[in-house]
Amino acid sequence: MILVTGGAGFIGANFVLDWLVLRDELVINLDKLTYAGNPETLQSLQGDARHTLVQGDIGDSALVTQLLAQHQPRAVVNFAAESHVDRSIQGPGEFIQTNIVGTFNLLESVRGYWSNLPVDRKDAFRFLHVSTDEVYGSLKKADPAFTETSHIEPNSPYSASKAASDHLVRAWHHTYGLPVVTTNCSNNYGPYHFPEKLIPLMIVNALGGKPLPVYGDGQQIRDWLYVKDHCSAIRRVLEAGRVGEVYNVGGWNEKANLEIVHTVCALLDELRPSADGNPYKNQITYVTDRPGHDRRYAIDASKLERELGWKPAETFESGIRKTVQWYLDNPDWVANVQSGVYREWVEKQYSEIK
Ligand code: NAD
Ligand code: DAU
Repeated sequence: MILVTGGAGFIGANFVLDWLVLRDELVINLDKLTYAGNPETLQSLQGDARHTLVQGDIGDSALVTQLLAQHQPRAVVNFAAESHVDRSIQGPGEFIQTNIVGTFNLLESVRGYWSNLPVDRKDAFRFLHVSTDEVYGSLKKADPAFTETSHIEPNSPYSASKAASDHLVRAWHHTYGLPVVTTNCSNNYGPYHFPEKLIPLMIVNALGGKPLPVYGDGQQIRDWLYVKDHCSAIRRVLEAGRVGEVYNVGGWNEKANLEIVHTVCALLDELRPSADGNPYKNQITYVTDRPGHDRRYAIDASKLERELGWKPAETFESGIRKTVQWYLDNPDWVANVQSGVYREWVEKQYSEIK
Protein backbone atom coordinates (compact mmCIF):
# COMPACT_ATOMS: atom_id res chain seq x y z
CA MET A 1 0.00 0.00 0.00
CA ILE A 2 1.22 3.50 -0.81
CA LEU A 3 -0.11 6.90 0.23
CA VAL A 4 -0.24 9.42 -2.62
CA THR A 5 -0.97 13.07 -1.89
CA GLY A 6 -2.40 15.40 -4.52
CA GLY A 7 -3.46 12.41 -6.61
CA ALA A 8 -6.51 14.15 -8.06
CA GLY A 9 -4.36 16.78 -9.78
CA PHE A 10 -2.72 16.57 -13.18
CA ILE A 11 0.44 14.56 -12.50
CA GLY A 12 -0.79 12.78 -9.37
CA ALA A 13 -3.87 11.43 -11.13
CA ASN A 14 -1.83 10.23 -14.11
CA PHE A 15 0.50 8.56 -11.61
CA VAL A 16 -2.35 6.78 -9.78
CA LEU A 17 -4.03 5.67 -13.03
CA ASP A 18 -0.77 4.28 -14.42
CA TRP A 19 0.18 2.67 -11.10
CA LEU A 20 -3.03 0.64 -10.98
CA VAL A 21 -2.66 -0.44 -14.60
CA LEU A 22 0.81 -1.76 -13.86
CA ARG A 23 0.33 -3.33 -10.42
CA ASP A 24 -2.17 -4.30 -7.76
CA GLU A 25 -0.62 -2.46 -4.83
CA LEU A 26 -3.29 -0.38 -3.07
CA VAL A 27 -3.33 3.42 -3.20
CA ILE A 28 -4.71 5.79 -0.59
CA ASN A 29 -5.10 9.13 -2.35
CA LEU A 30 -5.18 12.17 -0.04
CA ASP A 31 -6.25 15.28 -1.90
CA LYS A 32 -7.71 18.56 -0.67
CA LEU A 33 -9.67 18.86 -3.92
CA THR A 34 -8.80 22.49 -4.53
CA TYR A 35 -9.83 23.99 -7.89
CA ALA A 36 -6.98 21.88 -9.40
CA GLY A 37 -8.10 18.56 -7.92
CA ASN A 38 -10.65 16.77 -10.03
CA PRO A 39 -12.22 13.46 -8.97
CA GLU A 40 -13.65 13.11 -12.49
CA THR A 41 -10.12 12.35 -13.70
CA LEU A 42 -10.22 9.25 -11.47
CA GLN A 43 -13.69 8.16 -12.60
CA SER A 44 -12.41 4.96 -14.20
CA LEU A 45 -11.35 3.81 -10.69
CA GLN A 46 -14.86 4.05 -9.24
CA GLY A 47 -15.68 0.74 -7.56
CA ASP A 48 -12.02 -0.35 -7.74
CA ALA A 49 -11.12 -1.55 -4.25
CA ARG A 50 -7.44 -0.83 -4.89
CA HIS A 51 -8.01 2.95 -4.77
CA THR A 52 -9.44 5.14 -2.00
CA LEU A 53 -9.77 8.89 -2.44
CA VAL A 54 -9.78 10.83 0.83
CA GLN A 55 -10.57 14.54 0.74
CA GLY A 56 -8.20 16.30 3.12
CA ASP A 57 -5.20 18.54 3.64
CA ILE A 58 -1.59 17.34 3.91
CA GLY A 59 -1.32 19.92 6.70
CA ASP A 60 -4.04 18.22 8.76
CA SER A 61 -1.80 16.28 11.15
CA ALA A 62 -4.64 14.43 12.86
CA LEU A 63 -6.03 13.16 9.57
CA VAL A 64 -2.65 12.20 8.11
CA THR A 65 -1.59 10.45 11.33
CA GLN A 66 -4.85 8.49 11.36
CA LEU A 67 -4.48 7.50 7.67
CA LEU A 68 -0.92 6.32 8.21
CA ALA A 69 -1.84 4.30 11.31
CA GLN A 70 -4.86 2.74 9.64
CA HIS A 71 -3.34 1.87 6.26
CA GLN A 72 0.35 1.28 7.13
CA PRO A 73 1.79 2.42 3.77
CA ARG A 74 5.30 1.42 2.74
CA ALA A 75 5.77 4.77 0.98
CA VAL A 76 4.38 8.28 0.66
CA VAL A 77 4.54 10.04 -2.71
CA ASN A 78 3.95 13.75 -2.22
CA PHE A 79 2.46 15.54 -5.23
CA ALA A 80 0.21 17.88 -3.24
CA ALA A 81 1.01 21.52 -3.92
CA GLU A 82 -0.25 24.76 -5.28
CA SER A 83 1.38 24.58 -8.71
CA HIS A 84 0.55 27.58 -10.91
CA VAL A 85 3.19 30.33 -11.10
CA ASP A 86 0.73 33.07 -12.19
CA ARG A 87 -1.56 32.30 -9.27
CA SER A 88 1.42 32.48 -6.91
CA ILE A 89 2.11 36.00 -8.22
CA GLN A 90 -1.51 37.11 -7.72
CA GLY A 91 -1.77 35.50 -4.27
CA PRO A 92 1.22 33.79 -2.67
CA GLY A 93 -0.46 32.96 0.66
CA GLU A 94 -1.85 29.56 -0.31
CA PHE A 95 1.54 28.59 -1.74
CA ILE A 96 3.28 29.30 1.55
CA GLN A 97 0.53 27.47 3.42
CA THR A 98 0.40 24.26 1.37
CA ASN A 99 3.87 24.01 -0.14
CA ILE A 100 5.82 25.00 2.97
CA VAL A 101 3.66 24.66 6.09
CA GLY A 102 1.73 21.73 4.58
CA THR A 103 4.93 19.88 3.67
CA PHE A 104 6.32 20.54 7.16
CA ASN A 105 3.19 19.09 8.79
CA LEU A 106 3.22 16.12 6.43
CA LEU A 107 6.87 15.41 7.20
CA GLU A 108 6.17 15.52 10.93
CA SER A 109 3.18 13.16 10.63
CA VAL A 110 5.22 10.78 8.49
CA ARG A 111 8.19 10.95 10.88
CA GLY A 112 5.93 10.03 13.80
CA TYR A 113 4.61 7.01 11.88
CA TRP A 114 7.95 5.92 10.44
CA SER A 115 9.89 6.12 13.71
CA ASN A 116 7.58 3.54 15.28
CA LEU A 117 7.81 1.01 12.45
CA PRO A 118 9.66 -2.28 13.01
CA VAL A 119 13.25 -2.11 11.74
CA ASP A 120 12.75 -3.98 8.44
CA ARG A 121 9.76 -1.82 7.45
CA LYS A 122 11.53 1.30 8.67
CA ASP A 123 14.48 0.61 6.35
CA ALA A 124 12.26 -0.13 3.39
CA PHE A 125 10.04 2.96 3.89
CA ARG A 126 10.33 5.88 1.42
CA PHE A 127 9.07 9.47 1.34
CA LEU A 128 9.25 10.62 -2.27
CA HIS A 129 8.91 14.37 -2.70
CA VAL A 130 7.88 15.57 -6.16
CA SER A 131 9.47 18.91 -6.99
CA THR A 132 10.31 21.14 -9.89
CA ASP A 133 13.21 22.43 -12.00
CA GLU A 134 12.02 25.97 -11.18
CA VAL A 135 13.87 25.83 -7.84
CA TYR A 136 17.12 26.29 -9.80
CA GLY A 137 16.10 29.69 -11.19
CA SER A 138 16.61 30.90 -14.74
CA LEU A 139 19.32 30.04 -17.30
CA LYS A 140 20.96 32.22 -19.93
CA LYS A 141 20.95 30.97 -23.51
CA ALA A 142 24.40 29.37 -23.45
CA ASP A 143 24.34 28.06 -19.85
CA PRO A 144 24.55 24.31 -19.31
CA ALA A 145 21.37 22.56 -18.14
CA PHE A 146 20.53 22.31 -14.43
CA THR A 147 22.14 19.40 -12.59
CA GLU A 148 21.32 18.20 -9.08
CA THR A 149 24.16 20.36 -7.75
CA SER A 150 23.10 23.61 -9.45
CA HIS A 151 22.45 26.52 -7.12
CA ILE A 152 18.94 26.81 -5.72
CA GLU A 153 17.84 30.26 -6.92
CA PRO A 154 14.03 30.36 -7.08
CA ASN A 155 12.48 33.51 -8.54
CA SER A 156 8.71 33.26 -8.12
CA PRO A 157 6.63 32.79 -4.98
CA TYR A 158 5.75 29.32 -6.36
CA SER A 159 9.35 28.23 -6.94
CA ALA A 160 10.51 29.74 -3.64
CA SER A 161 7.83 27.76 -1.81
CA LYS A 162 8.84 24.56 -3.62
CA ALA A 163 12.52 25.20 -2.86
CA ALA A 164 11.62 25.67 0.80
CA SER A 165 9.77 22.34 0.78
CA ASP A 166 12.77 20.62 -0.83
CA HIS A 167 14.99 22.01 1.94
CA LEU A 168 12.62 20.71 4.62
CA VAL A 169 12.62 17.25 3.05
CA ARG A 170 16.41 17.26 2.90
CA ALA A 171 16.67 18.38 6.53
CA TRP A 172 14.24 15.69 7.75
CA HIS A 173 16.57 13.11 6.22
CA HIS A 174 19.78 14.70 7.47
CA THR A 175 18.51 15.31 11.00
CA TYR A 176 16.03 12.53 11.67
CA GLY A 177 17.11 9.90 9.14
CA LEU A 178 13.73 9.89 7.36
CA PRO A 179 14.35 7.91 4.13
CA VAL A 180 13.51 10.55 1.52
CA VAL A 181 14.14 10.94 -2.20
CA THR A 182 13.37 14.10 -4.17
CA THR A 183 12.68 14.48 -7.88
CA ASN A 184 12.99 17.84 -9.65
CA CYS A 185 11.17 17.70 -12.95
CA SER A 186 10.74 20.00 -15.92
CA ASN A 187 7.43 21.10 -17.52
CA ASN A 188 4.92 18.29 -17.95
CA TYR A 189 2.17 18.07 -20.54
CA GLY A 190 -0.42 15.44 -21.41
CA PRO A 191 -3.97 14.25 -20.55
CA TYR A 192 -5.92 15.82 -17.67
CA HIS A 193 -3.79 19.00 -17.60
CA PHE A 194 -5.81 21.87 -16.14
CA PRO A 195 -6.37 24.52 -18.84
CA GLU A 196 -4.70 27.33 -16.90
CA LYS A 197 -1.27 26.04 -18.02
CA LEU A 198 0.21 26.91 -21.41
CA ILE A 199 -0.48 23.82 -23.56
CA PRO A 200 -4.05 22.96 -22.47
CA LEU A 201 -4.98 26.66 -22.37
CA MET A 202 -3.86 27.07 -25.99
CA ILE A 203 -5.79 23.99 -27.14
CA VAL A 204 -8.97 25.01 -25.34
CA ASN A 205 -8.80 28.67 -26.41
CA ALA A 206 -8.02 27.78 -30.02
CA LEU A 207 -11.03 25.48 -30.23
CA GLY A 208 -13.19 28.10 -28.52
CA GLY A 209 -12.21 30.77 -31.07
CA LYS A 210 -10.50 32.81 -28.31
CA PRO A 211 -7.17 34.67 -28.29
CA LEU A 212 -4.02 32.61 -27.63
CA PRO A 213 -2.23 34.77 -25.02
CA VAL A 214 1.56 34.66 -25.41
CA TYR A 215 3.46 36.41 -22.60
CA GLY A 216 6.09 38.98 -23.68
CA ASP A 217 8.02 37.93 -26.80
CA GLY A 218 7.19 34.22 -26.47
CA GLN A 219 10.88 33.31 -26.57
CA GLN A 220 11.04 31.90 -23.03
CA ILE A 221 12.31 28.34 -23.08
CA ARG A 222 10.98 25.35 -21.16
CA ASP A 223 12.02 21.68 -21.22
CA TRP A 224 8.90 19.58 -21.91
CA LEU A 225 8.24 16.04 -20.67
CA TYR A 226 5.18 13.89 -21.39
CA VAL A 227 3.44 13.31 -18.05
CA LYS A 228 3.54 9.52 -18.30
CA ASP A 229 7.32 9.67 -18.60
CA HIS A 230 7.43 11.72 -15.40
CA CYS A 231 5.30 9.04 -13.74
CA SER A 232 7.64 6.26 -14.90
CA ALA A 233 10.61 8.23 -13.51
CA ILE A 234 8.88 8.54 -10.13
CA ARG A 235 8.15 4.81 -10.06
CA ARG A 236 11.78 4.08 -10.87
CA VAL A 237 13.12 6.43 -8.18
CA LEU A 238 10.70 4.98 -5.65
CA GLU A 239 11.93 1.52 -6.52
CA ALA A 240 15.66 2.06 -6.72
CA GLY A 241 16.59 5.68 -5.90
CA ARG A 242 19.28 6.14 -3.30
CA VAL A 243 17.98 7.49 -0.01
CA GLY A 244 18.70 11.17 0.56
CA GLU A 245 19.40 11.79 -3.13
CA VAL A 246 17.90 14.26 -5.58
CA TYR A 247 17.11 13.16 -9.15
CA ASN A 248 16.47 15.60 -11.97
CA VAL A 249 13.81 14.48 -14.45
CA GLY A 250 13.53 16.01 -17.91
CA GLY A 251 12.69 15.32 -21.51
CA TRP A 252 15.73 16.79 -23.29
CA ASN A 253 13.14 18.87 -25.16
CA GLU A 254 13.91 22.58 -24.93
CA LYS A 255 11.36 24.65 -26.83
CA ALA A 256 10.43 28.33 -26.93
CA ASN A 257 6.83 29.04 -25.93
CA LEU A 258 5.98 30.48 -29.34
CA GLU A 259 7.18 27.28 -31.01
CA ILE A 260 4.93 25.27 -28.68
CA VAL A 261 1.94 27.44 -29.56
CA HIS A 262 2.65 27.12 -33.29
CA THR A 263 2.94 23.33 -32.96
CA VAL A 264 -0.39 23.11 -31.13
CA CYS A 265 -2.03 25.31 -33.79
CA ALA A 266 -0.63 23.23 -36.65
CA LEU A 267 -1.85 19.99 -35.07
CA LEU A 268 -5.31 21.45 -34.57
CA ASP A 269 -5.33 22.70 -38.19
CA GLU A 270 -4.69 19.09 -39.21
CA LEU A 271 -6.95 17.26 -36.74
CA ARG A 272 -9.84 19.72 -36.30
CA PRO A 273 -9.66 22.56 -38.87
CA SER A 274 -11.52 25.69 -37.77
CA ALA A 275 -15.03 26.19 -39.16
CA ASP A 276 -14.05 29.39 -41.00
CA GLY A 277 -10.96 27.75 -42.52
CA ASN A 278 -8.54 30.21 -40.87
CA PRO A 279 -5.35 28.79 -39.35
CA TYR A 280 -5.48 28.78 -35.54
CA LYS A 281 -2.20 30.69 -35.36
CA ASN A 282 -4.17 33.79 -36.42
CA GLN A 283 -5.56 33.77 -32.86
CA ILE A 284 -2.11 34.34 -31.28
CA THR A 285 -2.14 37.54 -29.19
CA TYR A 286 0.88 38.99 -27.42
CA VAL A 287 0.08 40.07 -23.87
CA THR A 288 1.95 41.68 -20.97
CA ASP A 289 4.79 39.49 -19.71
CA ARG A 290 4.65 37.55 -16.44
CA PRO A 291 6.43 39.59 -13.70
CA GLY A 292 9.90 38.13 -13.01
CA HIS A 293 9.39 35.65 -15.86
CA ASP A 294 12.17 33.02 -15.92
CA ARG A 295 13.78 33.05 -19.36
CA ARG A 296 14.98 29.49 -19.72
CA TYR A 297 14.88 26.14 -17.92
CA ALA A 298 16.80 23.07 -19.05
CA ILE A 299 17.24 19.83 -17.15
CA ASP A 300 20.21 17.50 -17.25
CA ALA A 301 18.59 14.15 -16.44
CA SER A 302 21.75 12.09 -16.96
CA LYS A 303 22.07 11.05 -13.28
CA LEU A 304 18.67 9.33 -13.47
CA GLU A 305 19.63 7.62 -16.70
CA ARG A 306 23.10 6.61 -15.49
CA GLU A 307 22.11 5.35 -12.03
CA LEU A 308 18.62 4.01 -12.60
CA GLY A 309 18.45 3.44 -16.36
CA TRP A 310 15.45 5.78 -16.86
CA LYS A 311 14.76 7.43 -20.21
CA PRO A 312 11.62 9.11 -21.54
CA ALA A 313 9.56 6.94 -23.89
CA GLU A 314 7.89 9.77 -25.83
CA THR A 315 9.47 12.30 -28.13
CA PHE A 316 7.92 15.76 -28.03
CA GLU A 317 6.38 15.13 -31.45
CA SER A 318 4.63 11.90 -30.37
CA GLY A 319 3.62 13.26 -26.96
CA ILE A 320 2.12 16.53 -28.19
CA ARG A 321 0.12 14.74 -30.89
CA LYS A 322 -1.34 12.36 -28.27
CA THR A 323 -2.10 15.31 -26.02
CA VAL A 324 -3.95 17.37 -28.64
CA GLN A 325 -5.89 14.25 -29.68
CA TRP A 326 -6.80 13.57 -26.02
CA TYR A 327 -8.32 17.06 -25.65
CA LEU A 328 -10.28 16.58 -28.88
CA ASP A 329 -11.57 13.22 -27.62
CA ASN A 330 -12.54 14.48 -24.14
CA PRO A 331 -14.67 17.62 -24.52
CA ASP A 332 -16.80 16.69 -21.48
CA TRP A 333 -13.80 16.62 -19.14
CA VAL A 334 -12.74 20.01 -20.47
CA ALA A 335 -16.24 21.51 -20.17
CA ASN A 336 -16.57 20.27 -16.59
CA VAL A 337 -13.27 21.74 -15.36
CA GLN A 338 -14.23 25.10 -16.80
CA SER A 339 -16.33 25.82 -13.72
CA GLY A 340 -17.18 29.18 -12.20
CA VAL A 341 -13.86 29.25 -10.34
CA TYR A 342 -11.97 28.66 -13.57
CA ARG A 343 -13.85 31.42 -15.38
CA GLU A 344 -13.14 33.90 -12.59
CA TRP A 345 -9.41 33.14 -12.87
CA VAL A 346 -9.35 33.58 -16.64
CA GLU A 347 -11.17 36.91 -16.38
CA LYS A 348 -8.71 38.22 -13.78
CA GLN A 349 -5.53 36.97 -15.46
CA TYR A 350 -6.37 37.91 -19.05
CA SER A 351 -8.47 41.05 -18.55
CA GLU A 352 -6.48 42.95 -21.20
CA ILE A 353 -7.65 40.65 -24.03
CA LYS A 354 -11.30 40.34 -23.10
P1 NAD B 1 -1.93 20.35 -9.87
O1 NAD B 1 -2.12 21.75 -9.43
O2 NAD B 1 -2.58 19.88 -11.11
O3 NAD B 1 -2.42 19.35 -8.71
C1 NAD B 1 -2.13 19.57 -7.36
C2 NAD B 1 -3.05 18.66 -6.54
O4 NAD B 1 -2.74 18.87 -5.14
C3 NAD B 1 -4.53 18.99 -6.72
O5 NAD B 1 -5.27 17.80 -6.88
C4 NAD B 1 -4.91 19.70 -5.42
O6 NAD B 1 -6.26 19.52 -5.05
C5 NAD B 1 -3.95 19.03 -4.44
N1 NAD B 1 -3.67 19.86 -3.26
C6 NAD B 1 -3.39 21.18 -3.23
N2 NAD B 1 -3.20 21.58 -1.94
C7 NAD B 1 -3.34 20.47 -1.17
C8 NAD B 1 -3.25 20.24 0.22
N3 NAD B 1 -2.96 21.22 1.07
N4 NAD B 1 -3.44 18.98 0.68
C9 NAD B 1 -3.76 17.96 -0.17
N5 NAD B 1 -3.87 18.15 -1.50
C10 NAD B 1 -3.66 19.37 -2.01
O7 NAD B 1 -0.37 20.14 -9.91
P2 NAD B 1 0.50 19.17 -10.84
O8 NAD B 1 0.85 19.89 -12.07
O9 NAD B 1 -0.16 17.85 -10.91
O10 NAD B 1 1.82 19.07 -9.96
C11 NAD B 1 1.97 18.04 -8.98
C12 NAD B 1 3.30 18.23 -8.29
O11 NAD B 1 4.35 18.15 -9.23
C13 NAD B 1 3.46 19.57 -7.59
O12 NAD B 1 4.15 19.36 -6.39
C14 NAD B 1 4.30 20.39 -8.56
O13 NAD B 1 5.06 21.35 -7.86
C15 NAD B 1 5.15 19.32 -9.18
N6 NAD B 1 5.64 19.58 -10.54
C16 NAD B 1 4.75 19.94 -11.53
C17 NAD B 1 5.21 20.09 -12.84
C18 NAD B 1 4.29 20.46 -13.98
O14 NAD B 1 4.75 20.73 -15.08
N7 NAD B 1 2.96 20.48 -13.78
C19 NAD B 1 6.57 19.89 -13.12
C20 NAD B 1 7.44 19.55 -12.08
C21 NAD B 1 6.95 19.37 -10.81
O1 DAU C 1 9.09 23.78 -14.88
C1 DAU C 1 8.18 23.04 -14.13
C2 DAU C 1 6.97 23.89 -13.82
O2 DAU C 1 6.23 24.00 -15.04
C3 DAU C 1 6.10 23.33 -12.71
O3 DAU C 1 6.84 23.31 -11.51
C4 DAU C 1 4.84 24.17 -12.53
O4 DAU C 1 4.00 23.59 -11.56
C5 DAU C 1 4.12 24.22 -13.86
O5 DAU C 1 2.98 25.06 -13.76
C6 DAU C 1 5.05 24.75 -14.96
O6 DAU C 1 5.37 26.14 -14.73
P1 DAU C 1 5.45 27.19 -15.95
O7 DAU C 1 5.27 28.55 -15.41
O8 DAU C 1 6.64 26.94 -16.79
O9 DAU C 1 4.16 26.69 -16.79
P2 DAU C 1 2.99 27.49 -17.53
O10 DAU C 1 2.23 26.47 -18.30
O11 DAU C 1 2.23 28.36 -16.61
O12 DAU C 1 3.79 28.39 -18.53
C7 DAU C 1 4.68 27.85 -19.46
C8 DAU C 1 5.31 28.99 -20.23
O13 DAU C 1 4.31 29.61 -21.04
C9 DAU C 1 5.82 30.09 -19.31
O14 DAU C 1 7.02 30.62 -19.89
C10 DAU C 1 4.73 31.14 -19.32
C11 DAU C 1 4.12 30.99 -20.71
N1 DAU C 1 2.67 31.28 -20.80
C12 DAU C 1 1.83 30.66 -19.93
C13 DAU C 1 0.47 30.92 -19.96
C14 DAU C 1 -0.46 30.24 -18.98
C15 DAU C 1 2.19 32.13 -21.78
O15 DAU C 1 2.96 32.66 -22.60
N2 DAU C 1 0.85 32.38 -21.84
C16 DAU C 1 -0.04 31.82 -20.95
O16 DAU C 1 -1.26 32.11 -21.02
